[in-house]
Amino acid sequence: MSNKPDPQTYEDQTVNVKQKTLQSDAITLGITGASGAIYALNLLQQLTLHFQQVHVMLSDAARVVMATEVDVSLPESPKKIAEKLAVICSCDRSIIQVYSKDNWFSPVASGSAAPKQMVICPASMGCISAIATGASNTLLERAADVVIKEKGQLIVLPREMPLSTIHLKNLLTLSEVGVTVMPASPGFYSKPQTINELANFVSARILNHLGISNTLSDAWGYKN
Ligand SMILES: Cc1cc2nc3c(=O)[nH]c(=O)nc-3n(C[C@H](O)[C@H](O)[C@H](O)COP(=O)(O)O)c2cc1C
Repeated sequence: MSNKPDPQTYEDQTVNVKQKTLQSDAITLGITGASGAIYALNLLQQLTLHFQQVHVMLSDAARVVMATEVDVSLPESPKKIAEKLAVICSCDRSIIQVYSKDNWFSPVASGSAAPKQMVICPASMGCISAIATGASNTLLERAADVVIKEKGQLIVLPREMPLSTIHLKNLLTLSEVGVTVMPASPGFYSKPQTINELANFVSARILNHLGISNTLSDAWGYKN
């Protein structure tokens, strides 16, 4: 009997060939257990409008935060999570691909297939630390490591207050290797009336950095 891992034993293992998209038509979204689940769902919905494929990884803590903050309880199975997220985002089921934390056969685990762009939203201090040290213990951390080594675009949305010297050093390490650090701190100059408008502000800034023009939030000096 072969001791090689059998890709077929993982239900979420590989992307179906029919679903294969160009790396530039796809993006990776990591969702970790920092506060701000609403940012993650708002951004995911926007990404499904602009990309043919969104590769998603959620940490265990992210699922806890999602249930706590936005009353969304996600099932364990990656396929079922993808189905639920597609309903929440009102998008075609084929756009969202969810991977378990040890799915080393997924496209995001290798520079040969991973999309060139990745956002971690929100980003816990734990995940920032793991990425800054190159730990790659979970698929999410590995995917970030791959984007950095391939000189792609990684955007992280850290959320913590206050920031300790350890947090700041880790964020500096990421910034020094080209990661864009966009703290979860929406502006108030557009006079937001709802939490969703605050989340739109954050998503709009992230989309701008991904090169996607949008009218989610007023750009400075312009009115929609
Ligand atoms: C409701 C809730 C809110 C949390 N908020 C934060 C936060 O804002 N920032 C942070 O770094 N950790 C926060 N945590 C703690 C992280 O979830 C915890 O450190 C976890 O180990 C992070 O793991 P992950 O990086 O795998 O998601 C929060 C936890 C819970 C349950």
